[in-house]
Amino acid sequence: MAAQKHDLVVIGAGPGGYVAAIRAAQLGMNVACVEKEKALGGTCLRVGCIPSKALLESSELFAEAQERFGAHGIRVRGLELDLDGMLRRKDETVQGLTRGIEGLFRKHKVVRYEGHGRIMGPGRVVVENSREAAELKAGRILIATGSTSAPLAGVELDGDRIGTSTEALSYPKVPRHLVVIGAGYIGLELGSVWRRLGAKVTVVEYLDRVLPGMDAEVAAEAKKILEKQGLEFRLGSRVIGAGVERDKCVVECEGADPIRCDRVLVAVGRSPMTDGLGLDAAGIKTDDKGRIPVNERFATVAEGIYAIGDVIRGPMLAHKAEEEGIACVERLAGGYGHVNYDAIPGVVYTSPEIASVGKTEEELQEAGIEYRKGVFPFLANGRARALGRTEGRIKVLAHKKTDRLLGVHMLGPRAGDLVAEAVTAIELGASSEDIARTCHAHPTLAEAFKEAALAVDGRALHI
Ligand code: NAI
Repeated sequence: MAAQKHDLVVIGAGPGGYVAAIRAAQLGMNVACVEKEKALGGTCLRVGCIPSKALLESSELFAEAQERFGAHGIRVRGLELDLDGMLRRKDETVQGLTRGIEGLFRKHKVVRYEGHGRIMGPGRVVVENSREAAELKAGRILIATGSTSAPLAGVELDGDRIGTSTEALSYPKVPRHLVVIGAGYIGLELGSVWRRLGAKVTVVEYLDRVLPGMDAEVAAEAKKILEKQGLEFRLGSRVIGAGVERDKCVVECEGADPIRCDRVLVAVGRSPMTDGLGLDAAGIKTDDKGRIPVNERFATVAEGIYAIGDVIRGPMLAHKAEEEGIACVERLAGGYGHVNYDAIPGVVYTSPEIASVGKTEEELQEAGIEYRKGVFPFLANGRARALGRTEGRIKVLAHKKTDRLLGVHMLGPRAGDLVAEAVTAIELGASSEDIARTCHAHPTLAEAFKEAALAVDGRALHI
C-alpha cells in the first residue's frame, strides 16, 4: 500500500497531541494523529484527570451528605453508597469526552490512525496494530506520547491489589485499608476519594512533607486538613518493597514495621513514554530521566521531529502539554508561539483544593529575590462563610521593589478555578497593586485574592 502523505503526523492523542493536531489543522495543515488506544484523549481523559475528577466530585458529595448537610439544616436518612453507580457515571463522563474528540477530529479533518506509531527515520512513521501496518510520510513529526506510572524498586505491580492510579479509579469494592505510596498529586487525590468512601487510608511518603515542589506553608496546612479528614500520613518513610501474602498486601518501609493492608496504590511519579518509538532510528537520545531533549521551538536533534508534553522537560501537566503543542505548531506554520513557564498553574483537587502559580517562597529565597507577602484567610471571606468552607488561605508574593506578582498559592474552596485570575495577572505582568485596585464582585471567593493582594501592602480590609 502506498504511504499516506501528511504535512504533520502527531504521535499520541493526549491533551498535548490532540490539541496540537486540531490547531495545526486550523492553520491549514493536512494532519494525522496516531494513537494506540481505541479511545482518544490519552491518560488525562481515559485514566487520569477526568475520571479522577469525576470520582472526586461524587465522593465529595457522599462525604458532604454524611458530614455537612446537617449544618445546612438538611437531614438525610438511609444514605447509601452505590459504588457501581458511581463508577458507571465516571465511565460515562470519560466516554462522552473521548467521543467529543473524535467529533473534533472529524470537524477539523484530522486523520486518525489507530495503532502504535514508530518513527522509521526522518519523515517516516509506521503505524502498527494487531491487524495491519500502514506507512505514513510526514513533512513533520510531533511526538506527544506522554508518560506512564513510574515503577518502584521492590514493588511488583500485579494489576489488581498492587496497582497504579489506573486500578485505583476502578476498585470494585471500597478497600478496608488502602496504602498509598507517595504524597504527590495522585496520592492525595485518590487517597481522598477512597477515604471519603470509607477506606482507612495510609499515605507513605519518602520526604518529610507532602506535595514536594508546592509552597511549603500551603502544603503543611493542606496536610493538617487532610489529616482531620482521616488520611493518615507516614512522612520520612521510604517504601522498599510490597507484595501480596495470602489475603493481605504487605508494604515494607525502611526502618519501620511493615504495613498490612488490602490494596496498594503506587503513586511515586511518572516516566516519559518512549518505548518502541524508534528514537534510535531518528538519532534521538533521551536524557538521564528518559526525556527527549528539545530546544525552545520544541525541535529535537532530528530534522523535522518535534516533541512536547510529558516526554520533555517541565511539569507533567495536561495544560502545559496543550500550550506547548499549540506553540510548536504555530511556529511550524510560520507564526509566533510562546509558553510562559512562569505562568503554568498546578492544582490538586483535594477538598479544599490546592492551587499554585509562579514561584514559591522557597524558590524566591533560594534565588535571593526580595519579595513581600500578603496572606488572606478564607475564614474572613463572606462567601466562604456562607458556603461553610472557611478552611485555607491565599498567599500573594510580589517583588519587593517593583511589586510585580511573582507567585500566588492558594488552599481553599474552588482554588483550582480561582487560580485562573492569578495566572492571568502573572501572564500580563500585573503588580499586587493592580489586583488590589481591581473591582471584584461581592460576595465571591475571588475577593480573597484581592484582599491577599491588599495584604501585600498591609492594607487588607476585612482582617
Ligand atoms: P508526584 O511526583 O506528584 O509525587 C510522587 C511522590 O512520591 C513524591 O512526593 C515522592 O517523594 C514520593 N516517593 C517517591 N518514591 C517513594 C518511596 N520509595 N516511598 C515513599 N514515597 C516515595 O507524582 P504522582 O502523584 O505519581 O503524579 C504523577 C504526575 O502526574 C505528576 O507529575 C503530576 O503533575 C501529574 N498529576 C497531576 C494531577 C493534577 O494536575 N491535578 C493529578 C494527578 C497527577
